[in-house]
Amino acid sequence: MIKNICCIGAGYVGGPTMAVIAQKCPHIKVTVVDLNEARIKAWNNEDVSKLPIYEPGLDEVVKEARGRNLFFSTDVDKAIDEAEMIFISVNTPTKTYGVGKGMAADLKYIELCARQIARVAKTNKIVVEKSTLPVRTAQAVKDILDNTGNGVQFQILSNPEFLAEGTAIEDLFQPDRVLIGGDTTPEGQQAINALVEVYANWVDKDKILTTNVWSSELSKLTANAFLAQRVSSINALSELCEKTGADVNEVARAIGTDSRIGSKFLKSSVGFGGSCFQKDILNLVYIAKSYGLQEVADYWEQVIIMNDHQKRRFAKNIINTLYNTVSGKKIAFLGWAFKKDTNDTRESAAIYVADYLLAEQAKIAVYDPKVETHQIYSDLDYLESRSPEENKKGISIFANPYEACENSHAIAVLTEWDEFKFYDWQKIYDAMLKPAFVFDGRNILDREKLEKIGFKYQGIGK
Ligand code: UDX
Ligand code: ADP
Repeated sequence: MIKNICCIGAGYVGGPTMAVIAQKCPHIKVTVVDLNEARIKAWNNEDVSKLPIYEPGLDEVVKEARGRNLFFSTDVDKAIDEAEMIFISVNTPTKTYGVGKGMAADLKYIELCARQIARVAKTNKIVVEKSTLPVRTAQAVKDILDNTGNGVQFQILSNPEFLAEGTAIEDLFQPDRVLIGGDTTPEGQQAINALVEVYANWVDKDKILTTNVWSSELSKLTANAFLAQRVSSINALSELCEKTGADVNEVARAIGTDSRIGSKFLKSSVGFGGSCFQKDILNLVYIAKSYGLQEVADYWEQVIIMNDHQKRRFAKNIINTLYNTVSGKKIAFLGWAFKKDTNDTRESAAIYVADYLLAEQAKIAVYDPKVETHQIYSDLDYLESRSPEENKKGISIFANPYEACENSHAIAVLTEWDEFKFYDWQKIYDAMLKPAFVFDGRNILDREKLEKIGFKYQGIGK
């Protein structure tokens, strides 16, 4: 039975997942390690409202388990040495250089982890891939471990993450399923069973699916590709709705009641974001291309093309509506995160809409309840469309939504934070320049109420 787990990478996946394993399995010591000292320090903050990632319910879980059987540390070697099971939860961004640039996953961090495990391990280990990885990464990790290790035995498992940010704790408490892939050899099956027993502390065994490694790895990419495809499909229809006078919300409701289609993931929006969807589809496209499957690659790539179009279309519509120029105009952004209830901004539609409007010399005023100021600037600087100084000049960040909206020509809703619905919209209207426009990129505000106040309201797809 596993008594000691180590997780390399204390991010959006590793942090919450290990906190929940520790809370549900008090008999297992769980140590989460990361190279980033500031991040580990934040995980160890006495005040659990200051953890490095924001996730509803996470603070309570950490409060209960931390110091008991949950530990956060920068001593990677020690944690590897002590553990029987090692989760790899490091980031796997899309490559920004060389072969596969803009498409393949950069496995640099994974490889570094594998080499470190090989160097340090003195006893047999089960290594679990937790990051989203392209198919066949497990083989690469296995090659490194088997050829550079100290003669100890390694079993590699794939255990993809299906948690969605903002509902991570709920998703971990009550997963639809847990997927574990491993070798079909007796040793592989033994390793699978060891991980099944960890999850079985709180998950019904009939929800724990076991497969071979390749199926498990590919299932993760496929699940995200299907989900993203639904969003792009409804977004494609939103443009048609706007032309024809149909209402995309009504269409979504009508088709969602068909039990074969289902009602989830049919919310039309300014575009999907997050660290997984785009990266996973690009991966799928890259893998398909590398096997010469051009039609398969093109089919999935279209989901991304549609998403890029949706973000650009939203920005263009703001420009067109504001009399074809936003130069020098103040546009307030409500929300910067890629979805509500998270402070994660990776691939957020807000970044691309802002970039587009900045190119038209708009002045952007951002308010987000959870995203920190430095993150917003670094998201824009990362695009390298203009210098950091120019980004600082073009964007100002407010801690108060009313101040962000004051004297603005238009408001753009980029994230569906609940609090936006409950603002004093009359007060916001009074302080804005007229005509006062609202571009609701999430279709969350009450159109009728806003129009009654005097706003010119535009949602997506109606
Ligand atoms: C996703 C998967 O859901 C999860 O299983 C996987 O482990 C990681 O990737 P996440 O990226 O955290 O999770 O968020 P998700 O809820 O899937 O939303 C992704 C993006 O799609 C967000 O920008 C969201 O706003 C957008 N979206 C989602 C829509 O625009 N419309 C919808 O109907 C649903
Ligand atoms: P995810 O959403 O996949 O959890 P994050 O970027 O939030 O991604 O977290 C990944 C974490 O992994 C980061 O905090 C990063 O510092 C850490 N990391 C990357 N490489 C290593 C490594 N070799 N050893 C330890 N930690 C690492």
